[in-house]
Amino acid sequence: MKHLLSLEQLSRADMGAILAASVVMKRQRGHHASRPLEGQTWALLFAKSSTRTRVSFEVGLRELGANVMFLSAADIQLGRGEPIKDTARVLGRMVHGVIFRTFAQADVEEFAHYSGIPTINALTDEEHPCQILTDIFTFQEQRGPIQGKIVTFVGDGACNVPASWVFAAAKLGFELRIAAPKQFQPPLSLLERAGFTHVHAQPSPVGEVITGSATTGGKIVLTADLQAAAKGAHLLYTDVWVSMGKEAEAAERIKVLAGYQINAALVRHAAPDALVMHCLPAYRGKEIDDATFEAHAQTIFDEAENRLHTQKAIIAWLVA
Ligand code: CP
Ligand code: NVA
Repeated sequence: MKHLLSLEQLSRADMGAILAASVVMKRQRGHHASRPLEGQTWALLFAKSSTRTRVSFEVGLRELGANVMFLSAADIQLGRGEPIKDTARVLGRMVHGVIFRTFAQADVEEFAHYSGIPTINALTDEEHPCQILTDIFTFQEQRGPIQGKIVTFVGDGACNVPASWVFAAAKLGFELRIAAPKQFQPPLSLLERAGFTHVHAQPSPVGEVITGSATTGGKIVLTADLQAAAKGAHLLYTDVWVSMGKEAEAAERIKVLAGYQINAALVRHAAPDALVMHCLPAYRGKEIDDATFEAHAQTIFDEAENRLHTQKAIIAWLVA
């Protein structure tokens, strides 16, 4: 039984297979040779809001032949305290696979363990694997192999999206720089879990710079120095400052993260043909300014569309 619960658990070979299959899924949209989910019913179980993930999975599952059911966690007994493991065993008797968006990573893992059906993490507080696989597919379709390239993440470096980037960098061998104030950088334990070694800190005028390397050639840099992090980057990437579930911290986050924004001044430090991407939803004037967002809208909405193609590739890989 295969699941996609995290990039931490996904092998480099499987990542490569999914990325290669994404190209085929995109090219063959509308005339697929097979519909591997014909006769099946899949459920989307969501405890958090979603536009892209929900729509792309619903459309993708239908295009692969499945019937689809959307279950808001708040509307089923899960929202009234029924345990995950019981919900998992019920759904496992009735549907053929589940796409699960929730808070704790442990809940997705528990669901997969008890359900006995393919389970996909559609975002937890710890990871957003489908997003980052899509982002890498999007980068590679425009710029070729990501191996050896420089990706700079700007903003809340301690949330789910940058965590999945950390695991991807270690596995696929590119340099990931996370530009964030100290308290919004990922913990060193995450770098170690990803396989980065020689992790050490060097002093700099804006505080410590943490660096590490992986056997794949992957590199990690954590720094509060935004401009140094952007220098020569092939991809500038950002995400919201206030992730779902962190709303009570909004005022403090906006204060501390102020300035950690992708804008024209920052883009000038990146490589001349650097891409700018955003997983969306975007908050203009916070993590990105409006002019820069609109200047890179073609890439950003290619990225959004590509959720569909990459997730179809993930599902086909899961059920193969
Ligand atoms: N990027 C992303 O996952 O968007 P949604 O929250 O709209 O699904
Ligand atoms: N970090 C964001 C991603 C949204 C797609 C969140 O968790 O809300």
